[in-house]
This record gives sequence, C-alpha cells and structure tokens, in this order.
Amino acid sequence: MAKVNSQVSRLGTKSTNGDEDLSSTSSVLGLKILDFPEMRKAPAEGPAQVISVVNQKGGVGKTTTCINLGAALAELGRRVLLIDFDSQASMTTGLGIKPAQIKEQYGSIWHLLNDSSADISEFVVKSNVPGLDFIRGHEDLAAAEAAFVSEIAKENKLRKLLAPLMNSYDVILIDCSPSLGTLTINALTASSGVLIPMECEYFAVLGLSLVKKTIEKVKENTNPGLQIYGILATMFDRKTAHSRDVLELIHKEFPKELLDTIIARTVRFSESTVKGEPITSYASSSAGAISYRRLARELISRGGAK
Ligand SMILES: Nc1ncnc2c1ncn2[C@@H]1O[C@H](COP(=O)(O)OP(=O)(O)OP(=O)(O)O)[C@@H](O)[C@H]1O
Ligand SMILES: [Mg+2]
Repeated sequence: MAKVNSQVSRLGTKSTNGDEDLSSTSSVLGLKILDFPEMRKAPAEGPAQVISVVNQKGGVGKTTTCINLGAALAELGRRVLLIDFDSQASMTTGLGIKPAQIKEQYGSIWHLLNDSSADISEFVVKSNVPGLDFIRGHEDLAAAEAAFVSEIAKENKLRKLLAPLMNSYDVILIDCSPSLGTLTINALTASSGVLIPMECEYFAVLGLSLVKKTIEKVKENTNPGLQIYGILATMFDRKTAHSRDVLELIHKEFPKELLDTIIARTVRFSESTVKGEPITSYASSSAGAISYRRLARELISRGGAK
C-alpha cells in the first residue's frame, strides 16, 4: 500500500496501468501535491459516521463511489455498511445480487421503512468483501414520496431505523437516488456529512448549488450538524481541456470542498459492475482501485470517516 501511496503523489497526471489515469486536483491545477496517510484501524469504537452520497444529477458516480469507497474503507479495517436507498437498486446489483432477488420486498430497506416491527439486523447482507455489509434497495422505494406524504416526522424515518446498528459499524454510506425528494432528505437527516460526486462536465457544476441549497435546508430544519465532507470530481478525462476547465471552475467556486482525489473515466467501473464486485477486488491494481483507496484515506484525514 505504501508503494501505491507514493505512486499517486509521484505520478500526478501520468498513468501507471497502460493508459489509466491517476490525476489529482493538485497535480492537474499545479498545486502542492498532497499525500494522505494510511490509518489501518478505526481510532475508537462508537457510533458510526453516516455519510450520504448525494447528487440530484443522474449517472455521476454515486453508486460507484458507495461501492468502491466502502470496499476501500473495509480494506483499511473499517466496519462498513452500505444502504441502497435508490429504487433503481443498482448498488444491490453491483454487489452481486441477482435481479430476481431484488424483486423480493422482504429483506430490503423499503420493507424496513414500512414495518416498524422488523429487525434491521436481519436485513444486513454480507458482501464478498470482508468487513463490507449492505442492505438491499427495492424498486418500490420510488413510491416513498406518495407513501409518506402525511406522516409526522417523515424526515426522521431512516435515522431512527439505523439507530440499532450505529455501534456495529465505523462508517455507514447511503447511496441516494438522483433526486432531492423525501428519501434524500431522510438520508441527509440521518447523516453526519455528505459526499457529492460530480461528473467533470459543465452542466454538473450548475447543479451543485441546488445540492448545497438542500443541505442548507436540512441543516435549518432537521440536522444542524450536517457537514459537507467533500465534492468528488468523477469521470475525469485528462485528455480533454474541458475536464480540466471544469475542475478549475469547481476549485474556484468550492476550494475547501473539492477533494484532491479525482476519479478518472475508465471502462473498468462498468466491467466490475457486471461482475458484481468492487473495482478494488475486480481490478485491484487499476487506477480506479488506487483512486478509491486514496479517497478513503483522504476522507479519513478530513474527519469524514473514522
Ligand atoms: N469514473 C468512471 N468512469 C467511467 N464510468 C464510470 C465511472 N464511474 C461510474 N461509471 C459508470 O457510469 C454509470 C453511472 O454510474 P453510477 O451508477 O455510479 O452513477 P449514479 O450517480 O449512481 O447514477 P444514478 O443517478 O442513476 O443512481 C455506470 O455505468 C458506471 O459503471
Ligand atoms: Mg446510483
């Protein structure tokens, strides 16, 4: 792993595996190169840090980030739980669950939201990665908006649901749907912080202010302590000036929030989804795997994960 660390900081925008890209914000923008230490053990037992992975824009890498950041944190010895909070249930698929099983409502987070007598610990599934557990999504999550419309304190449903598991994990990552509706408000209310994956594409920058407005609303109403742990530039293509321009723009607008780790565009992510496993095990030495490991270290060093 130490070798991997130095590879990242040394190489900047150069590639390691064939044409794979290990760019970082500092290397692309010509800033001081950063390195993040590897902390193998969580410093203390105690309540999990809950992180919502949010962006109302679709296809920006939320699910990919949950799976691979989760796997990278588990490699560092963290006990990680992923919650698939999206009716597309793509995280559940990405962790190897067959479509027929996903149709089953029992065992999903949707069932838990609707049955207060259910025991959440029975719904936890072990992934193929040691230390990485998850709770399945379900297509009926799409009905949440209408289903909970008249409920009192509907924003607190997920927070209450997760309470019995808080001491069993170091980190809980919630994969949100591409919307800022009831489910995402629930996720934000249950979280200590937010990670915002953002595709390196101009329109994506415009959508960021909407995410930030929603975070502010949640802070005012249901969760004053909510923080932004970082904006993660995804699908970066170092061959295009556009990717670099967008990165520069995000850095200008959100210098504190923009993470140094960048996730470059590579087909390896789609391939690993088809295989139903994280890139950290499917292509362990690929740039994608190295970048998500670096993200895990950066998040820990920022206090975003234990
Ligand atoms: N860095 C990347 N390079 C290339 N492809 C990627 C990258 N990250 C994710 N992808 C691919 O892009 C597609 C969308 O990614 P993902 O499902 O993670 O986005 P999402 O934000 O969760 O989407 P949605 O909003 O629909 O839930 C997937 O096919 C995924 O494999
Ligand atoms: Mg998704």
